[in-house]
Amino acid sequence: AAARDCTRCDLCRTRRQVVFGEGSPTARLLILGEGPSETDDRSGSPFSGPSRRLLETWFTRLGLRRDEVWLTNVVRCRPAAPVNGRLKNRPPTDPEARACRAWLDTEIALLRPAVILALGGTAGKALLGKGFKISQERGRWQPGPHGAAILPTFHPAYLLRLEDDALARAEAIVEADLDLVKARLGVAP
Ligand code: URA
Repeated sequence: AAARDCTRCDLCRTRRQVVFGEGSPTARLLILGEGPSETDDRSGSPFSGPSRRLLETWFTRLGLRRDEVWLTNVVRCRPAAPVNGRLKNRPPTDPEARACRAWLDTEIALLRPAVILALGGTAGKALLGKGFKISQERGRWQPGPHGAAILPTFHPAYLLRLEDDALARAEAIVEADLDLVKARLGVAP
């Protein structure tokens, strides 16, 4: 209830609604994205836009259903910037991520996931510090809060921007990362 009316940062001025994490409260896997998109801001659910279909294929590879994992974001309100008179999605700023941190910490403390899959640079920075570099640190396990193991990987939106060989290479990398997660969760690969 407190988060629904949150005014800790200016994203509250442009959001339609606060987009909470969703999934199973007993999930062993928490997937951490960047922030709600315009579609999510309308629907009230994280990853309800174009990344959703790709994420569904990731769940299949993990041997999990969407309702068996927990999906959430570094920030709970849509970060947007005006471009040619329209609001466009953008990554959250460091102060916005810091302002939302109490909600993320509470979420992780309540869920106590075994594994956190951090999608992209914003999620990696939020959990692993400002110096985090996705190109160097993805695919490597890191200790996380409340005994969780963090694995950073590419954000699905990044893959959706790639084509041909670059896409095939990134897909193979993500598949290897997902296999690491599956093995860690103790589900036979
Ligand atoms: N939607 C989300 O909920 N998170 C992202 O990182 C991108 C789209």
